[in-house]
Amino acid sequence: MKTELTLEIIRERWSPYAFSKNNIEEFRLKAMFEAAGKAPSCFNEQPWMFVYTTREDESIFNSYLGFMEESNQAWAKNAYAIIIAMARTRFTHNGKVNRFALYDTGMAVANMSLQALAFDIYVHQMGGFSVEKVRKYFNLSDDVEPLTMIAAGYLGSGENLPPEILRKDEVRRPRKYLNDIAFKDRLYNPAF
Ligand SMILES: Cc1cc2nc3c(=O)[nH]c(=O)nc-3n(C[C@H](O)[C@H](O)[C@H](O)COP(=O)(O)O)c2cc1C
Repeated sequence: MKTELTLEIIRERWSPYAFSKNNIEEFRLKAMFEAAGKAPSCFNEQPWMFVYTTREDESIFNSYLGFMEESNQAWAKNAYAIIIAMARTRFTHNGKVNRFALYDTGMAVANMSLQALAFDIYVHQMGGFSVEKVRKYFNLSDDVEPLTMIAAGYLGSGENLPPEILRKDEVRRPRKYLNDIAFKDRLYNPAF
């Protein structure tokens, strides 16, 4: 895919496994959540919620790590912060199911990831965690859905990572061709 005209910050984003344990300054974390909160949403519902911890509180950090599958713990344990993205799945104004809640929350996380990168902070999202454990830990009601866990931190050298994980950072992950995602007039009619 030709990407010369794509914004540099979009081109440069990727999800690393090698995180540095260095602190992220609080004002930068704050800016990341503020960026998330600027996302558009159906009815301006802003259905997203984020809860995070940092490695500075070892006990809570370890609890969060414990929600993840072991394959994710292996590298996420080096991140500075762990964020959990959740969505409220009913509209505030009428209590009806908001079928866009997950969609909108994804846009908020996209904003967050780009704002992070503007600070040279990388995020790596995970679906590999126990939704049940998160539900129980935070005593979530049925209308709140935990969506992803997000490791955040500056890039690290990966020296403490198993080689098979570190190798995953050596090449950027491929993307489909534009032909396969953008169509003109008729579905599957390549636009470009
Ligand atoms: C919703 C979601 C769930 C993901 N789950 C995991 C995961 O459990 N473990 C993991 O290592 N990466 C996970 N990823 C990262 C993707 O594998 C990664 O974004 C994708 O391969 C594209 O790579 P890139 O982000 O480096 O461009 C997840 C990403 C998303 C958006």
